[in-house]
Amino acid sequence: MSGDIARVRAGECHVWIAEAVSVPALLPMLDDHERRRHEAFVREKDRALYLTAHALLRQTVAAQLDGMKPGEVRFAHVCKHCDADRPHGKPAVAGSPLELSLSHSGGLVAVALSLAGPVGVDIEETAAGRDLPLNVLSAPERAALDRVPDAERPWAFTRYWARKEAVLKATGDGLMVDPARLTVSPPDVPAALAEWRERPQPHLPVRLHDVDAGEGHRAAVAVLGDGECRVVRHEVTHGGDGAVLRRPR
Ligand SMILES: CC(C)(COP(=O)(O)OP(=O)(O)OC[C@H]1O[C@@H](n2cnc3c(N)ncnc32)[C@H](O)[C@@H]1OP(=O)(O)O)[C@@H](O)C(=O)NCCC(=O)NCCS
Repeated sequence: MSGDIARVRAGECHVWIAEAVSVPALLPMLDDHERRRHEAFVREKDRALYLTAHALLRQTVAAQLDGMKPGEVRFAHVCKHCDADRPHGKPAVAGSPLELSLSHSGGLVAVALSLAGPVGVDIEETAAGRDLPLNVLSAPERAALDRVPDAERPWAFTRYWARKEAVLKATGDGLMVDPARLTVSPPDVPAALAEWRERPQPHLPVRLHDVDAGEGHRAAVAVLGDGECRVVRHEVTHGGDGAVLRRPR
C-alpha cells in the first residue's frame, strides 16, 4: 500500500497535498480517539477532511517506519500550554525522530514530515468573499496589504495567514501566541520570517517556504533549525482502496 510513498531523508522536509475524500477503506486506519472525532463532525465535508488528513498522515508516517502498517502508528501529542490527559497539541510519532504536522482547509489537506527539524504546515482556502480578520496581521503586514489591489487582497491575506500559522505550528505555540506579533515577508516575495516580537529565548531559526496548493488555496511550511532543508512537494491521488499514490511536483 505504501510502496509509492517517498522516504524522507536527513535534511529534508516532504509535503503531501491531497483532495479530501470519503473512502470507507480509510476508516480502519484510525485509532479509537480519531474515530470518535471523525464521527463527531456534523458536516460530511468536515468528516472527509479529517479522515483524509489523518489517514494520509498515518500512511506517510508508516512508509517511513519499516514494517509498520498505517493503523499501527502510535502518536504522541505535545501541548506547550497544559498537561491535560487528552491527546491534543502538536502531534509527534512515539519513539521516532520524525517531525510532523498536518492541516486541513476547504477541500484540501496537507501533511508534512521532516528530518530537518520541527515542522509546521498550514493550508488555507483563499479568503474570498468574506471580511478579512486583519487583526492577525502586524502593522507592517497591514501597511503592505493596504497597497495590494482590492481584487488581489484575499489571496495576499491568505498567503500571510498560511505563512504565520505554519511558523506557530512548527514551534507548537499555535494560536495561543498572538499571530500579530509575527511579521512575515510580503506575499509577492519569497517566504521568510522577518520579526517575532517578544519571542521567548532561546529559540531556533525559522526556515519558511510557500507550497503550491493550486488556485483556491495557499499553503506554507516552516522548519525550525539551521543547515540544509530541502522541501519536496508531492501531489497525492487516492487508489480505489484509499491508498496514497504519489505524484511528485
Ligand atoms: C493548532 C491550530 C493553530 C490549528 O489551526 P487550524 O487552522 O484550525 O487547523 P489546521 O487544520 O491548520 O491544523 C490542525 C492540526 O494542527 C495540529 N495541532 C494542534 N495543536 C497544535 C499545536 N499547538 N502546534 C502544532 N500543531 C498543532 C493537529 O494535528 C491538528 O489536527 P487535528 O485537529 O485534525 O488533530 C489552532 O487550532 C490552535 O492554536 N490550537 C491550539 C489551541 C491551544 O493550544 N489551546 C490550549 C490547549 S491547553
